[in-house]
Amino acid sequence: MLNRKLITLMNEQMNKEFYSAYLYLDFANVYESKGLLGFANWHKIQAREEQDHAMLFYQYLHNNNAEVKLMTIESPDVRNAEAINGTNIKGEKLQDLLRASLKHEEYITSLINNIYSVAQELKDYKTMQFLDWFVKEQGEEENNFQNLLVKAQLFCDDSKGLYLLDSELAARTYTAATLTV
Ligand code: FEO
Repeated sequence: MLNRKLITLMNEQMNKEFYSAYLYLDFANVYESKGLLGFANWHKIQAREEQDHAMLFYQYLHNNNAEVKLMTIESPDVRNAEAINGTNIKGEKLQDLLRASLKHEEYITSLINNIYSVAQELKDYKTMQFLDWFVKEQGEEENNFQNLLVKAQLFCDDSKGLYLLDSELAARTYTAATLTV
């Protein structure tokens, strides 16, 4: 039986992962409306991955006979962010958007780390093993956004660089999460 505190934290995490999906769909929405279809594709796939993360928590809770609570998902508000005011999102504005995504992933990492530390305190080795995958995944996700940010800083001050990066991001394809619970 899972500890009550862990059940609460994991239900909250499921909600945050669904929120992440919604947030990245909203980023895709902004990029798509600006004609950056590669960036939109990349973020739509990211949104699908976040749904997978949420469903892993859903399944883990069910597999451990714990109650699953589907709480309200907060509305993302990327469109109103100061970063995208104006008519285009080249250069600095693009970097602001990517920085916001990176910051969000760092926040999600801190939540995963917190759940991990509670599981560790409770000597819940099974949950720690489940969370190991997420610790690794968060490292990869922070890295992905960091790399995108560096590319935007290096190459996206002009339209040609932006076009090339957008074309690169159009090639991203979806792969389902490798973890099974
Ligand atoms: Fe599921 Fe991007 O954290």
